[in-house]
Amino acid sequence: MLVISETSGGICKVTINRPDKLNAMNAEVAREISRAFADASARDDVRAIILTGQGTKAFSAGADIAAMYEMEPDEAVAYAREGQAALAAVEDAPQPVIAAINGFALGGGCELAMSCDIRIAADTARMGQPEVTIGIPPGWGGTQRLLRIVGIAKAKELVYTGRMISAAEAEEIGLVNSVVPADSLEAEAQKMAEVIAGNSGMGVRMSKRAINAGRNADLGTGLEVELLAWRNCFTFGDRKSMMKEFLEKKKK
Ligand code: COA
Repeated sequence: MLVISETSGGICKVTINRPDKLNAMNAEVAREISRAFADASARDDVRAIILTGQGTKAFSAGADIAAMYEMEPDEAVAYAREGQAALAAVEDAPQPVIAAINGFALGGGCELAMSCDIRIAADTARMGQPEVTIGIPPGWGGTQRLLRIVGIAKAKELVYTGRMISAAEAEEIGLVNSVVPADSLEAEAQKMAEVIAGNSGMGVRMSKRAINAGRNADLGTGLEVELLAWRNCFTFGDRKSMMKEFLEKKKK
């Protein structure tokens, strides 16, 4: 299996499992990521997802250069569509997704990390968009998501130079949320996933939907989506029981 999914205690861990190729993503890996996230998305018992790469060297070294070398333009477009679909499946999962970046996250690997809600990097991680060093632009959303996360000036610098940055620099420019020692990455990602999984499932899902919708919309539209998300929590979910618990604790 090129992608492994395991769920325990409401947390689904998805691992890209191609360590001998630094978890580079060929079309099959992209399809398996889409499948793993479709499965996790459909499960009410999954409250948070962790995405990582097998081994200690790479989260993912990106799109598969050996596969791309042979491609004709139409095949390359079909391949990029598979990649973009996989990243959309990650971004659109109703549950928050934490990228545990355990090493290289380059090209499609960096783009995959950017489709997650939160990025925690090992201090050994290196990130970047090196596509221009092999004759192409980023094709799995890198020209679009990077600028939304770090701003257009930094995005242009990173894409045009193709330079690899350290985990520390990635944190400095806001590309990752935090940097932790490599040997505690798994535990730190798990700890955050447990905090999220311990909160209201509906409250968290509706928050993600509103933030994601608002990111690409004007403020008025975003606020309307927020109101619908808010209403959903007054209609379904655990709002009543959680508020009741809070009020009863106060009375004691
Ligand atoms: N596509 C296909 N195979 C890849 C790959 C990729 N993006 N990245 C690494 N690999 C393969 C290597 O070809 C090698 O395979 P082999 O053992 O069969 O020869 C294996 O993974 C290990 O990689 P290697 O290059 O030997 O490791 P390294 O420690 O010397 O270098 C990197 C690590 C990440 C610096 C280097 O692999 C690299 O630059 N990869 C490409 C990154 C990139 O440009 N990604 C964007 C693609 S659009």
